[in-house]
Amino acid sequence: DWTTAAFIDEAVADVRAQVGDKRVLLALSGGVDSSTLAFLLHKAIGDQLTCMFIDQGFMRKGEPEFLVEFFDKRFHINVEYINARERFISKLDGITDPEEKRKLIGTEFIRVFEEESKRLGPFDYLAQGTLYPDVIESAGTGIDPKTGERVAVKIKSHHNVGGLPKDLQFKLVEPLRRLFKDEVRKVGRSLGLPQEIVGRHPFPGPGLAIRILGEVTSEKLNILRDADLVVREEVKEAGLYNEIWQAFAVLLPVRSVGVMGDKRTYAFPIVLRCVSSEDGMTADWSRLPYDLLEKISNRIVNEVKGVNRVVLDITSKPPGTIEWE
Ligand code: XMP
Repeated sequence: DWTTAAFIDEAVADVRAQVGDKRVLLALSGGVDSSTLAFLLHKAIGDQLTCMFIDQGFMRKGEPEFLVEFFDKRFHINVEYINARERFISKLDGITDPEEKRKLIGTEFIRVFEEESKRLGPFDYLAQGTLYPDVIESAGTGIDPKTGERVAVKIKSHHNVGGLPKDLQFKLVEPLRRLFKDEVRKVGRSLGLPQEIVGRHPFPGPGLAIRILGEVTSEKLNILRDADLVVREEVKEAGLYNEIWQAFAVLLPVRSVGVMGDKRTYAFPIVLRCVSSEDGMTADWSRLPYDLLEKISNRIVNEVKGVNRVVLDITSKPPGTIEWE
């Protein structure tokens, strides 16, 4: 519509005026905000934009491949894919405490970001998908005393840890800073992002690592990825994906007895977590149809090796949180 188109024209002009012929770095996660930002900046400054996509190894099945294929191959946006899987998983070796896991992942993210931005740089600007509600909070930014410009002192990654070192204090490009989430979706759509990206469910920065309770291992990540895929496929197939805030699987670090064929099994349970929500602050568990639940349960137990039981989380938020860690 007209307002969205006008916003895009103005934002493109503003970005061009702000950055001139300088280089801009964007940490791409594949979420709605950073994806919309990548499209907007690419329209404005083309190859002056570099998107850094850090693969921590905690993404959903097929997601890293999908993102590289989509942004780099299909839309010719510069994407630097950083495979940091080994680094992250070895950091989590033996770690079971949720807060400690989150901190370690966040700190490692900053470290990789730092190293890689030096290697790929220099960059003059850091683009961030700051939205209006973030501006009000103004977390993670400061004012450069010399120029009076807003600068990043933290990366706005949902990890919310760790400051950027002094020599990495980029100037910020934040063209989405006057928008609310639903407006970002409109802008994204209008720039040509498909529903597959614009309509996706929220996904936490630490990814699947906080959906495996306790210690994270490659084996458990593989199990959870397969179970998660079944949940997504079936919820979409039932036509409910867009009505649900989030639908995902959680892996518990306990085992229970089951029977498969004529053999006794002793394997992990998967928790099905589906919630409806307006903003993630409060949530209610989704009353999914029984036949959908049955299909999800059958498929997971039959197709995902290492799982022999599926249970349903029927806790609202509060008192439960949406994620389990
Ligand atoms: P909780 O579990 O606190 O989650 O009820 C509320 C919403 O926030 C998401 N979430 C995160 N998002 N980084 C994020 O970007 C995180 O570390 C994180 N933890 C939770 C969660 O998926 C839900 O949508």
